[in-house]
This record gives sequence, structure tokens and C-alpha cells, in this order.
Amino acid sequence: MSNELREAAAIVRNAAKIVVFTGAGISAESGIPTFRDEPEAHSGNDDTAGFWHRFPVEEFATWPGLIRSARQQPRRVVEFVHHVLAPIADARPNPAHHAISYLEQERSTTIVTQNIDGLHQAAGSVNVQELHGSIFEVVTRDRRPVRELDRAQLSRIAKRLERIRRGWLPIPRMLWAVRRWLGLGWRGLHLPNLVLFGDALCEPDWTRGLAAAEACDCLIQIGCSGVVLPAAMLPLAAKSNGARVIAIDPQPTEADIWLSGSAAQVTPQLVAAALSRQS
Ligand code: APR
Repeated sequence: MSNELREAAAIVRNAAKIVVFTGAGISAESGIPTFRDEPEAHSGNDDTAGFWHRFPVEEFATWPGLIRSARQQPRRVVEFVHHVLAPIADARPNPAHHAISYLEQERSTTIVTQNIDGLHQAAGSVNVQELHGSIFEVVTRDRRPVRELDRAQLSRIAKRLERIRRGWLPIPRMLWAVRRWLGLGWRGLHLPNLVLFGDALCEPDWTRGLAAAEACDCLIQIGCSGVVLPAAMLPLAAKSNGARVIAIDPQPTEADIWLSGSAAQVTPQLVAAALSRQS
């Protein structure tokens, strides 16, 4: 066991309140592409390179950009929606999600995630704050709940989009395929409960997540690039209140302790080392 892992395990073992702050990196080994990884990080395979390398933020990550792209490059919009839905619909929790769910059973733990894939909940975690929303939740424009889709329903939509993206009249056919997820209903426009650039973070998730970070004595950051505010403030908020920050990431990451490696490999090692000597 490395000195860093031994030290990090002691911090987690002795922590009274823990926050686990996760980003796209924790779901990479569940088959969901991250947003900013360079193509060469995936042996040049552009298909799994960071999402925003394939779909520029200004064209796809804001509602005005999406509407403009639907007019100017409709087939690319269908491809974008398909690339968002398909990996998440087929994803299952990996050992990192399961290790965090086990930690949550043994210690007072709040999970604050930037991810929309529901994999923490699928692994059994219950105290999950979703800062950027959930792809399964359908809401009105003022974020009132309309319905919740499950993974099988999302998978069926993704399969229809696979066919549509190569066919004729892509946008009208896409809108018909996604109508329960995005469209007009008796409550007016309904859409996925997602936070795009320029949107406010989901509440009460953000208020609860920030409060948990300010009150914890250990924050474990897993698979976060730390470039998107205000979510990236959470480790700083924890640290400013005396907490120790542990980061799990293959890339060097600012933290008290950086554990180099993938989430699915390192997270179970950390949790096992922390909880193995229950004394
Ligand atoms: N295990 C752990 N970490 C990994 C792995 C892995 N297998 N693979 C990649 N990473 C790391 C990368 O090194 C990087 O630090 O995960 C991080 C992914 O960074 P981003 O792609 O920027 O994802 P994230 O930090 O979640 O982005 C934050 O930006 O575009 C918005 O809404 C989007 O929620 C997202 C937010």
C-alpha cells in the first residue's frame, strides 16, 4: 500500500462527516465519456474522447445554441442527443460507485455529484445531491416534476435515435421519438431536468451540497477536472473549514492527497483500507 493511500485511509477512517464529490471521471469506466479528456487519452479513439471535443460547448451545451444548431445542422443535433442518451442508458455502476455506497452505510456520507447518470443511486447510494440534474427526470420550464423515465425507456429512445440520425427529416422524427422526454404536454413544454451552461444549479441539491462541504472533515473528490464553477468551489469550501481533501484521478489534481489512478481501481482500495480496521 502506498504512503498516500495509507494516509488517506486514516483520514477517511477517522472522519465523522464525509463528502464524496464526483464528476464524469467516476463514470468513465461505466462506458460514459468524460467531457474534456483529450482524444489521445483514449488511444486516439475519438469515439470515447471528451464530449466537448466532439460537440462544441457553444453549439450544444446551451439551450440557445441547441436551437440554433437544430436549424443549421439538424443531423448533428440528433447525433448529439443520441450520444448523450445511449451511453447512460446502457451504463451500470462500476466498483467505484459500489465502494461509495458501502462507505455511505458505514460513515456519515453525503454524495455531491455533477453527473446526470443516476449511477450512484443505481449502486444503492441514497444521500445524493445532483448539482447538474438528472437525465431521467422530466420537468416543466420552472423545474416542476412531470415524470421520471427509467433506464429501459431511455435505452428505447436511444435505439430509435440511432436509426433516425441517418435517415430523412431528422428533427421532426427525433422530436416524435423523444416526446416523453422533451416536448409539449398538457403542462406546456417539458424537458429533461438538466443544468446547461448559464443555468442555475439544481436546488435544494446545491444548498445541501455546499452545506455538507462546509461541515465535513473529509472531502473525497473523484474524477473532477475542477474547471466548472460553482461546483468546483466545493473542495475549497471544505478546505476553508478545516477539512482534508483527497483526490482520485489519473491526472495530477490539486488536493491534500492525490491518489493517482482510475476511480474503479483506487476507490475500492481506499474504502477497504479505511474501513478494514474497524476499531
Ligand atoms: N477515473 C477517475 N478519473 C478519471 C477517469 C477515471 N477512469 N477518466 C478521466 N478522469 C478524470 C479526468 O482526468 C478529469 O479530471 O475525470 C475528470 C473529467 O473531467 P471533465 O471531463 O471536465 O468532467 P467534469 O469535471 O465532471 O466536468 C464538470 O462540466 O461540462 C460540464 O456539466 C458538465 O458536469 C460537467 C462539468
